[in-house]
Amino acid sequence: MGAKDLTQVERHIFLCNGTACNEKGAEGVVVLLRQMVKEIGMDTRIHTTRTRCNGRCDDGPIVIIQPDGVWYGAVTPSVAQEIVLDHLSDNLVVDSHILYRWGASIITSQVKPRP
Ligand code: FES
Repeated sequence: MGAKDLTQVERHIFLCNGTACNEKGAEGVVVLLRQMVKEIGMDTRIHTTRTRCNGRCDDGPIVIIQPDGVWYGAVTPSVAQEIVLDHLSDNLVVDSHILYRWGASIITSQVKPRP
């Protein structure tokens, strides 16, 4: 058990670790993203939590950034790297992998609908 100083946290990242996301490599995303956040010295300002299913298994692995309200889908380790360097470091959302933004009227799934 830890006691992270939450008063310094600016963003909370939810890393889906449900079964479907894990089958698509979510654990590798978790490990890389956490490692990079630490390496660039943002671990006091960013809190990460593994979650269970977030209800969008077909679009996984899912990464959710709060309070930004951004859901990323089909996250690979290289996309996780972009999320850290562009979104978390420079506040530039990685448009190519946005699944959903809070308030939007559409979900941008990269998964083709089943026939
Ligand atoms: S297991 Fe990740 S959204 Fe369902």
